[in-house]
Amino acid sequence: MKADVYDLVIKNGLIVNADVSFYADVAIKDGKIVALGSFFRAAQEIDAKGLYLLPGGIDIHTHLEMPFMSTFSSDNFESGSKAAAMGGTTTVVDYAMQEKGDSLSAALKKWHEKAANKCHIDYGFHLGLTDIDENILTELESLTQEGVSTVKLFMAYNNALRCPDIKLLEVFNALKKLQILSMLHCENGDIIEYLSKKLVNDGNTAPIYHSVAHTAECEAESINRAAIYSKIFDLPIYIVHLSSKEGLQVIYDHFKRGVRIFTETCPQYLILDDSLYNKEFLEASKYVMSPPLRGKDSIEALWKALACGMINVVATDHCPFFLKQKELGKDDFTKIPNGAPGIETRLVLIFSEGVRKGRITKEQFVKCCCLNPAKLAGLYPSKGAVAPNFDADLVLFDPNKKWQIMKSHLHENVDYTPYEGIQVTGAVVDVLLRGQWLVREGSFVGGKITGNYLRRTKVI
Ligand code: URP
Ligand code: ZN
Ligand code: ZN
Repeated sequence: MKADVYDLVIKNGLIVNADVSFYADVAIKDGKIVALGSFFRAAQEIDAKGLYLLPGGIDIHTHLEMPFMSTFSSDNFESGSKAAAMGGTTTVVDYAMQEKGDSLSAALKKWHEKAANKCHIDYGFHLGLTDIDENILTELESLTQEGVSTVKLFMAYNNALRCPDIKLLEVFNALKKLQILSMLHCENGDIIEYLSKKLVNDGNTAPIYHSVAHTAECEAESINRAAIYSKIFDLPIYIVHLSSKEGLQVIYDHFKRGVRIFTETCPQYLILDDSLYNKEFLEASKYVMSPPLRGKDSIEALWKALACGMINVVATDHCPFFLKQKELGKDDFTKIPNGAPGIETRLVLIFSEGVRKGRITKEQFVKCCCLNPAKLAGLYPSKGAVAPNFDADLVLFDPNKKWQIMKSHLHENVDYTPYEGIQVTGAVVDVLLRGQWLVREGSFVGGKITGNYLRRTKVI
């Protein structure tokens, strides 16, 4: 191409992809990466010397403005997507939740209304199935035409989101024909209900008892059941937010026998441990999420599994609640809204705790935060790599900048971060969405930019 045909050229950066890293200039036109190489000229050129050029982060597990446990998660698509962009994430796949009695199209409509013209980054939806009957099983057939190639099923949250096993089997039967991937919240809802009631009746109402009720065995047992169902139907499954070494062992055992299981974990399970539940109510309630935080042995096991490819994706499960909302459970841990923020801090935490501490390579970091999420959510090959024909979703990342995470620096609509005070190395400098600047030199400049709804392709 001759001089000035490109809209933008980013020069001198180290391109980090999931397979290999190399120096090259990136030429962008009409929102796409059109060439990698050198000696390009363009209307606009920027120098990325000393910086990494990463594919935009892809977070395929978020809950924006979700009605849950008598309240709503506190980030909407506007605030949550701005925070995501500030942290280097350019695509989210959020859970469109079916409310009791709703059709799937009604659930999707609600989520489209929440996101359209508000979300600053590209977005898609998984369908969270919570009320299944014959009509819903039939309606599943229309999902892929709506651009939805994944559904979530909850094996926990009795009397709320939970899908009973008999229905789970019916859904699996339908998904097998439709080639839709199921994303499973694996915890044994009955054990949790039984233990929670017993604990509360005995006067054990503090947040720490949330982690006692949600034992690692609950997770392991539920993963085992899901894997057996997966085997019966010869249907791959995706386990969301894996938290424990016990659950990991079960995945490994089934994996060896040929069951196709994809696994996601989240920064909280790789970084924070269950000693945080020993604090007083408000402090401990910050970490009440399902599944809960585990011990340091689980943390190290999860990092090793990420390094060897047993864990495919790091997503956030971003589900923030203000401390005022957490107070709903001050006399009873079962009433504390489950969830924590994290949409803004994922890339920096995984880079700092993972790459800089030598647990994973920078290419593995890109694999679990960008490429694999793109592939498993049906967004590949337009998202997930810095390569010709991919969307120009790019993060200019300083691998050496040291800073301390503090809520006062973040943009999530909530009054705390679980990572307060953690020293990190690595910082997002610039972020581009399809060639347009969302973040420049650490400041949000994407106020007028709205993301596209992504029609996702089948992944299985
Ligand atoms: O505690 C959590 N994880 N809240 C969000 C809902 C879910 O289970 O993913
Ligand atoms: Zn879940
Ligand atoms: Zn979740």
